[in-house]
Amino acid sequence: MLTLAACAAGLFIGPTLTSAYLIADASAPPAARVRAAAWVNTGLNLGAAGGTAATGVFLDAFPLPLCYALAAAPALAAAATLRFLPERQHDSRFRPVRPHHLGMDDTMSNEEFWETRYAGHEHVWSGDPNAILVKEITGLEPGTALDLGCGEGADAIWLAGRGWRVTATDISRTALERAAQHAGDAGVAGRVDWQRHDLAVSFPEVSYDLVTAMFLHTPAEGMPREEILRTAAAAVAPGGILFIAGHSGPPPWDPDAHPHVHLPGADEVLTSLGLPDGEWEVLHSGEHERLQTAPDGRTMTRTDNALKLRRRPA
Ligand SMILES: C[S@@+](CC[C@H](N)C(=O)[O-])C[C@H]1O[C@@H](n2cnc3c(N)ncnc32)[C@H](O)[C@@H]1O
Repeated sequence: MLTLAACAAGLFIGPTLTSAYLIADASAPPAARVRAAAWVNTGLNLGAAGGTAATGVFLDAFPLPLCYALAAAPALAAAATLRFLPERQHDSRFRPVRPHHLGMDDTMSNEEFWETRYAGHEHVWSGDPNAILVKEITGLEPGTALDLGCGEGADAIWLAGRGWRVTATDISRTALERAAQHAGDAGVAGRVDWQRHDLAVSFPEVSYDLVTAMFLHTPAEGMPREEILRTAAAAVAPGGILFIAGHSGPPPWDPDAHPHVHLPGADEVLTSLGLPDGEWEVLHSGEHERLQTAPDGRTMTRTDNALKLRRRPA
């Protein structure tokens, strides 16, 4: 809407002012001057006599560079406003989000659901790391990291590119193969260990300086998220960070999607972790908005939440 308003304003101001200048130029071809006058009269909505008078006012008041500056002003204002709108997240940049439930049937296991989803599309996600991860993890001293439910690997690859040694896990073999390929393309293959785990059943056994669970949600049955996140907390080394991001509600373009999937806020996640008193410090907890492109191409705002905790050094 904002962009449309800016364009409309530009269409009005630009031709009006620059045409006004042209009208005053006696050496311009007569046909151009007639067209310019029509623009001015339409743009100012003043009728012929008023339009001519207004032309004189503009010409007296504004040199040509100022006419151009005024014409550009709405676009600059739109750009400045857009700067403060919520950041787009990586799965939404230019590609519309694919509804999770398409192709799903009730008899599918969690693993079958994700295999089908990844096998059905060459790229399910954009390939960019999650913006909230980049924001919250940039600046941390790199060490060892564990990414739970890594999908096509964009976050793990981003971490590896910043010096982390990453173990990245997912239930889908197809996603892991694709992620490994992307890591090779990005030149970080040697820094990421891709491990297939159904986290409801098995979990990497080492402890890590950073453990991330980014949108570890599933519409299918059989993923005990709270239990997995408690195991994730236990896998954080003393002094290390646990970072969990999730959706705060269903997608705005389909509010009835997955009514059986519970999407807790950051406070609820923190409570469900059941962390021992005094052992952890909350560095960030809250909601944030981002723009996503809906399956029908509309740009919509979605609310997510994130929790960043530090395990106190031993
Ligand atoms: C919504 S996607 C998020 C992917 C990625 N973290 C991101 O932010 O783009 C959820 C991911 O969790 C994985 N997943 C779901 N259930 C899992 C389980 N039980 N064990 C391991 N991974 C699982 C899925 O295969 C999928 O890649």
